[in-house]
Amino acid sequence: MSKGLNAAADDTLVRSSEKPGALVFYSQFDEPEPWRVALKEMLPELDFRVHPDVGNPDEVRFALVWRPEPGFFAGFKNLQLVVNLGAGVDSLTNRDDLPDVPISRLSDKGMIALMRSYVLFAVIRYARDMPSFEQAKRRREWHYIHPRPLHQTRVGVVGLGVLGAAVATALAELGFDVRGLDKEEKQVPGVKCMRHAGGWDDFLGDLDILVNMMPLTGQTRKLIGADVFDGLPKGAKFINASRGQVVDEDALIAALRDGHLGGATLDVFENEPLSPDHPFWDMENVYITPHLASITVPEMAARDVAESIRLILSGQDPLHCIDPGKGY
Ligand code: GLV
Repeated sequence: MSKGLNAAADDTLVRSSEKPGALVFYSQFDEPEPWRVALKEMLPELDFRVHPDVGNPDEVRFALVWRPEPGFFAGFKNLQLVVNLGAGVDSLTNRDDLPDVPISRLSDKGMIALMRSYVLFAVIRYARDMPSFEQAKRRREWHYIHPRPLHQTRVGVVGLGVLGAAVATALAELGFDVRGLDKEEKQVPGVKCMRHAGGWDDFLGDLDILVNMMPLTGQTRKLIGADVFDGLPKGAKFINASRGQVVDEDALIAALRDGHLGGATLDVFENEPLSPDHPFWDMENVYITPHLASITVPEMAARDVAESIRLILSGQDPLHCIDPGKGY
């Protein structure tokens, strides 16, 4: 693990006497202005430029980007750092023009808090039988279901990276029986962690709810398919808050239609936006949100971006540095 991944946002800031130079911002989803303002406070001398208005590209040393267009990086010969404007780096690692410089992702407290709140909401909604009450209200029916204590709901979180571990910890703190699965050895307080080498049967067998928090990589594409759904007990629920392409959607639809899966909460999809004729829209047991489980909050994340720039200027690894080979 690089120093960057361990460094907390509250660490003492690195000092660098070097002028930072220029940064190029590219995103079709995020507004540049809040970033300009937030970064100005952290690094007043940073020359913030918004693509395509970049001036002399040779002056650009840093890129703050979300899904830049193909060929984007070729124009910037003097890049020293690429910062991904989000948690998932699949849109960077899956391209063939990534420059050979440190790649850092965002992983700030604001983003973690939003993700935690989304998954807690989705798990609690199932654990407290809210879908049944939503239906009963439509029937004008007083439909009592005796609540189960939280520790009787078994939740499995697959993917224990920064966000997955935060989600698992929050669920355990609330009182759920939480198990975690990762391909690496992980320790998360209050969570029974397992390492998966191949099959997941030991993990899935008695879960009430499965939460996917895995990044999209060459190894995880469509990893959650028919065998995973079959491995869950009948009636189990599925929550996906990472990437749609990690799931085999046809297998998910089949498991929901035949009643083996009791329901799904989906924030992410194989193709986004979800097309109006997608079968999910008509499925009563599918809860859909349009990829917003977590977002980047510029006022909170700018500190990490500024710190990464300072670290690069002083010859160190940036914060939250990823390994493009691993894909996360
Ligand atoms: C959102 O999906 C992100 O990767 O930050």
